[in-house]
Amino acid sequence: MTNQMTEPIFDTHQLAFTELFTPVLRDSLEFFTKVLGMTIVHEQGDSIYLRAYEDVYLYSLILTKAKEAGMGFSAFRTSSKPALDRRVAALKEAGVEVEERTDNYGYGTSYRFKDLDGHVLELFWEVEKFKAPERIASSLNNRAQRKPARGVPVRRIDHVNLLTNPANVQKNAEFYRDLLGFNIREGVLNEDGEFFATWLSVSPLVHEVALMGDELGGSGRFHHLAYWYGIPQHLNDLSELCIEHGIPIEAGPLKHGVSQALCMYIIEPGGNRIELFGDSGYLIFDPDWETVEWAPEDAAKAIIWYGGELPETYFRYGTPRIKDETDALNCYYNPIKTSLEKEGFISHLSAEREDNLYNTFNFDIEE
Ligand SMILES: [Fe+2]
Repeated sequence: MTNQMTEPIFDTHQLAFTELFTPVLRDSLEFFTKVLGMTIVHEQGDSIYLRAYEDVYLYSLILTKAKEAGMGFSAFRTSSKPALDRRVAALKEAGVEVEERTDNYGYGTSYRFKDLDGHVLELFWEVEKFKAPERIASSLNNRAQRKPARGVPVRRIDHVNLLTNPANVQKNAEFYRDLLGFNIREGVLNEDGEFFATWLSVSPLVHEVALMGDELGGSGRFHHLAYWYGIPQHLNDLSELCIEHGIPIEAGPLKHGVSQALCMYIIEPGGNRIELFGDSGYLIFDPDWETVEWAPEDAAKAIIWYGGELPETYFRYGTPRIKDETDALNCYYNPIKTSLEKEGFISHLSAEREDNLYNTFNFDIEE
């Protein structure tokens, strides 16, 4: 697939924040504040706004109480007001329904729409920058907030991974490329030569958005939200903390082939999958980067270069859950899982372990 259509579009600039739904708001909050060291900046209705200590804006995560886990929306900041106007015009011209929203905490007018698979996204320009009150100010001029002395604190939001109906991955990637200006950095092909999964970015990072085939055939589901450490040892520190306090680690620490990042996956108390990046992986500065393609038989090392296994459930567990997960199992060919299975990188969980991993749980750290 061509990475860019014609002239590059520099209008979408960064992933700014994500809203996650949780059925156990207080337990999720406990996890994000005490284990990932995030700071509460605001509470409003059923939502709590949280920041990582190097997030530049007020917050990067909104936790909202809801019946089921999942992603509410992800918001991207544009590079200017005219850039925002251009993207909104392009979306409307393409027939995308766009909703203007003005009642936003911490940022100005936003434009909400859905991608081709039903994930809710927003674009905005006006935003409030975080100014740390004295008690949490950093001694460093270039750090938005002092590093919290809680858990293993995350530094900034990194990316979202959106489960996408396998029939939609290719055209949804083109939607992000053509209407929003994303570059398609890497992709895993299915047997027909179309993308089963793609990694897209608007910055030198390999991705701010990943679209990964939902082998259960769902649409608009959420796979994970990732936060960045930039310090590989932190993944070991966090692993110890999770094991000591009964937080389920799904996989890792391990090294991805795609992006080359060192990562691990945790399921937070509300049931959403959270990824932590121990480093940034490689960065891209080439202006006419050609999309890196991984053939189906090569897909194993795209996902695991070394360092661990993934449970088979990694590919079907997403939020919200699909009710008949077992019946619907493997309704779509998944080149990644097939290749990993062949190479011996897939583990099969006991029913008890699966229950422990993916059910919501009460969580309270005393200290
Ligand atoms: Fe990821």
